Amino acid sequence: MAHLITLIPGDGIGPEVADATVRAVDATGASIEWERVEAGLHALTEQGQLIPDDVFASLEMTRVGLKGPTATPIGGGHQSINVVLRKKLGLYTNFRPVRMLPGLKTRYQDLALDLAIFRENTEDLYSGLEHEVVPGVVESLKIITQKASTKIARSAFEWSRRESRKKVVAIHKANIMKLSDGLFLKCCREVASHFPEIAYSELIVDNACMQLVMRPETFDVLVLPNLYGDIISDLAAGLVGGLGIVPGANIGDNHAIFEAVHGTAPDIAGKGLANPTALMQSAVLMLAHIGEREASTRLHNAIYRTYAERDHLTGDVGGKSSTSEFTDAVIRHLVGQTLSSVNPAP
Ligand code: NAI
Repeated sequence: MAHLITLIPGDGIGPEVADATVRAVDATGASIEWERVEAGLHALTEQGQLIPDDVFASLEMTRVGLKGPTATPIGGGHQSINVVLRKKLGLYTNFRPVRMLPGLKTRYQDLALDLAIFRENTEDLYSGLEHEVVPGVVESLKIITQKASTKIARSAFEWSRRESRKKVVAIHKANIMKLSDGLFLKCCREVASHFPEIAYSELIVDNACMQLVMRPETFDVLVLPNLYGDIISDLAAGLVGGLGIVPGANIGDNHAIFEAVHGTAPDIAGKGLANPTALMQSAVLMLAHIGEREASTRLHNAIYRTYAERDHLTGDVGGKSSTSEFTDAVIRHLVGQTLSSVNPAP
């Protein structure tokens, strides 16, 4: 029976990278039926709602989504669609594997970087609880709960055990936010005590940023509250070639949405220049999540071969090819390959 997947193309370059990814996933031979729904500015214009009801209805049925980026206005306007989806569907784990692709020229190209970032996805300063106390004074509430902190810590440790990873580091600012980040650390320590084979340590977020830039190879698995996770995962993406290549997965107990880390890239939208690698790599995680392990591994290998060959890369990673030329190359590499292992999504 075909897997039913909700496809949300999104705004800006979203539809371009979504179409490219659908072509690549379909070429793996995995039996997938896409249910295409609109969310974002396009949906607002066409249907009068940023997240029309059919988006939730579809995700309720399929339980798995593949999503392109959606635009969020800065300093006002509507709430982030991602934040709404993550909270409403209880997608508490944001998982971002950060790996060096072969053939990419980056400052860190000689290091075999392989980091796994587990970002809490539903609370912290993203709770959306802001108000003006008096004119000129505003408050944003940072919510940290034992429940959500324990869940993200458990996700990180359970995945690390499954994947035989050696080290988990919790990132925090508990020297200043003693109560909120203090609670986050307390939960991480408690969970860590059940995984004696995995080395557990803690790092203050500012120091973590410096260490990541100076010696990223010393990191293995990172677990963070929402805001630090957001910032550090983009920093980590920068180590391996930028936002155009790093995948993401939002996982809850009942639903999962796979999406690229990058935004709508309005500067290149509609020009056929977008790099679809990040969404394709998110689809690699999605295929593993739904049990299509062979298709997942084949797509992973095809992406890596296209990079190793270097002939059909997009402009953001030093190439000259268009979105569709890159996609054609990936699809060519899907044919006749041997299997090698790929880390699954949590
Ligand atoms: P952005 O990620 O859209 O763009 C930053 C830079 O990276 C731009 O120069 C862009 O051309 C480049 N870039 C990003 N993705 C690329 C790709 N796949 N291929 C080639 N180049 C790529 O970040 P920005 O400009 O801060 O945000 C634009 C909009 O995207 C905002 O409305 C923001 O709220 C939204 N956004 C949405 C996200 C999501 O839905 N997951 C995540 C981040 C931002």
